[in-house]
Amino acid sequence: MVVNDNERLPAGGGPLLRVAITKGRLLKRSIEMFEAAGADCSAVREPGRRLILPVTFPAKAGEEAASCEVVLAKAPDVITYVERGVCDLGIVGKDTILELGQSFYEALDLGFGACRFALAVLDGVDFFGSLRHRTVASKYPRVARWFFEAKGMDVDIIRIEGSVELAPILGLADGIVDIVETGGTLRENGLVPIEDIAAVSARLIANIAAVKTKRAQVMRLIRLCEEGLK
Ligand code: PRP
Repeated sequence: MVVNDNERLPAGGGPLLRVAITKGRLLKRSIEMFEAAGADCSAVREPGRRLILPVTFPAKAGEEAASCEVVLAKAPDVITYVERGVCDLGIVGKDTILELGQSFYEALDLGFGACRFALAVLDGVDFFGSLRHRTVASKYPRVARWFFEAKGMDVDIIRIEGSVELAPILGLADGIVDIVETGGTLRENGLVPIEDIAAVSARLIANIAAVKTKRAQVMRLIRLCEEGLK
């Protein structure tokens, strides 16, 4: 999506933007990004049990001060809220986007939250050499299915909700498809990555209608993110 630098928030503001942000690591980095662009994120830093919090951006040349509402949500729900239009924008990992599909704009690659999808096995296992039918466990069954379909391999995929490294250790699966960041979890559990599948990082996503109806505010927020990332 191309950001038009000439777009400015109209005087007097406009409809309030709602931005869904994935709780956890991506939230921390999102706050740092907004603050680097001059935003006041004090409410989001001290949310208590509140789930919707204000963020204020200061006035600057040609632009009045502006606010948005930040909605704290789990990654798959960020996608649901943005697709359904109850949030205009969202910050979510590419891993969740690849798994759940998309009917929204992917406006920016934010760069942080960088990791990769990989196929991993117990150290010493010859996954591709074996002729018998293979089973793979994953929190991302759709990504795993694509990966093996592209290789023309018929592999059973078992969905696991977390700590997927357990599946080969317990003898449930021959390998796992999972996200790898530092590689520490694989190492400490005796697994090794044998093939990279896709790079992953946080993305700013936008509701398709909001890009038209709230274009100036959406563009301003995209620019603020770009500024905060510099
Ligand atoms: C993710 C992923 C790996 C781990 C990878 O799990 O599923 O287990 O992080 O990170 P590393 O390469 O830096 O060790 P997460 O912490 O989200 O918990 P979960 O397995 O319970 O989903």
